[in-house]
Amino acid sequence: MSEKATMEKIVSLAKRRGFIFPGSNIYGGLSGFWDYGPYGVMLKNNITRLWWRIFVEEREDVHGLDSAILMRQDVWQASGHVGGFVDAVVSDTVNGRQFRADHLLEDQGYDPTGMSIEDISNHIKENNIKSPNGNPLSEVSTFNMMFETCIGAGKGEESKSYLRPETAQGIFANFKNIMDSVHPQLPFGIGQIGKAFRNEIAPRDFIFRAREFEQMELEYFVHPDEWEKWFDHYREEIWRWMDMIGLDRDSIHELEVPAEDRAHYSKRTIDFEFDYPFGRKELYGLAYRTDFDLKSHASKSGQELSYLDQEKNERVVPHVIEPSLGVDRTLLAVLVSAYREDEMNGEKRVFLSLPVAIAPVRVAVFPLMKNKSDLVSKAREVFEILKKEIPRVIYDESGSIGKRYRRQDEIGTPHCVTVDFDTLDDQTVTVRDRDSGEQKRLKIEDLLAELK
Ligand code: GLY
Repeated sequence: MSEKATMEKIVSLAKRRGFIFPGSNIYGGLSGFWDYGPYGVMLKNNITRLWWRIFVEEREDVHGLDSAILMRQDVWQASGHVGGFVDAVVSDTVNGRQFRADHLLEDQGYDPTGMSIEDISNHIKENNIKSPNGNPLSEVSTFNMMFETCIGAGKGEESKSYLRPETAQGIFANFKNIMDSVHPQLPFGIGQIGKAFRNEIAPRDFIFRAREFEQMELEYFVHPDEWEKWFDHYREEIWRWMDMIGLDRDSIHELEVPAEDRAHYSKRTIDFEFDYPFGRKELYGLAYRTDFDLKSHASKSGQELSYLDQEKNERVVPHVIEPSLGVDRTLLAVLVSAYREDEMNGEKRVFLSLPVAIAPVRVAVFPLMKNKSDLVSKAREVFEILKKEIPRVIYDESGSIGKRYRRQDEIGTPHCVTVDFDTLDDQTVTVRDRDSGEQKRLKIEDLLAELK
């Protein structure tokens, strides 16, 4: 991580340059919800498109899916989320403020790793732990993190549903559809990108812990004897992915999650933790979900959710390896890794050293001045040539040339192409490199080859 990437600077840059805004901002904001602005959505789309390409499209053994956010409540009963997707909560008995009990312990210097809800409750009592305001705490209670909603006009139990807390269940619920329509051979995967929702008691750390977020999830179905091989395979794939998006390897740490801290469906989980400015936190999870989900859904739905191995003429319930990647956490880790400050021409400068593959803008084209019509028309001509061949090319003529360079630096644009008076004589332009600030002159006809 760049030492200079404090959260204050990242949040300020994200707002100033149109990456991320607080949700419902004009009404004072809504905790845990964020809106992605023009450059934020470009960066986010580049990340999700790259994931889709690497984890789905380039793989003959992986199929894509886009399932509905709302599903019947049976899905969430079978998955264990209705019964078990809970956090421990305590409140300040004087002002009523609610806290996630494990976070409260953490903030007061205790380590809640591996503690059950009962352990947390005992720990609070035995150590006479108070709220941050010094007031006594309530008993620990549990709180289900799924957002409830009603489908249709009914208000009864029948119409109840939940916003999905993970995209994964849409994949398990479609396992049979995909088997019957695409007939994949084991091992195979189903990948999905989409929104998920968790009613966090105390959302915090910018987009890291939000109530609405996006996931890139892959459920990879394997023969039970082969789970270790595929677990290792996806462990390597996650490292390869993190290199592609420019995350600093020294800021990433694998954590073998102990049994008592694993999700109810997992027999093995590795968390990939990242050194965010607010501490080392989970970026990605790689879980061995066994046959937990398929078996639960088969039992509740009464459907056959298994795979017929035609060679051996035997039915197996596949086991599942799940690399689960949060889009928003990725984007934050990318911003933190790419954030740089230096000095250029005697002035302090901030820039994002984003990899070309995900930078929101790939190339920005400028006329040196906007009030010279021949410069403007030449610059637009160059812009038209580039934009046909290269994705994410923009044209910008507003403000001084220095301001335009600063703006593109802060957005993380790898190259700026400037049309100046020499261009009109000799058909050359300057190409400026974001990281070094170096400029070289190139013939317009050579530009494409150089930028590609
Ligand atoms: N599907 C795993 C997770 O959402 O954490």
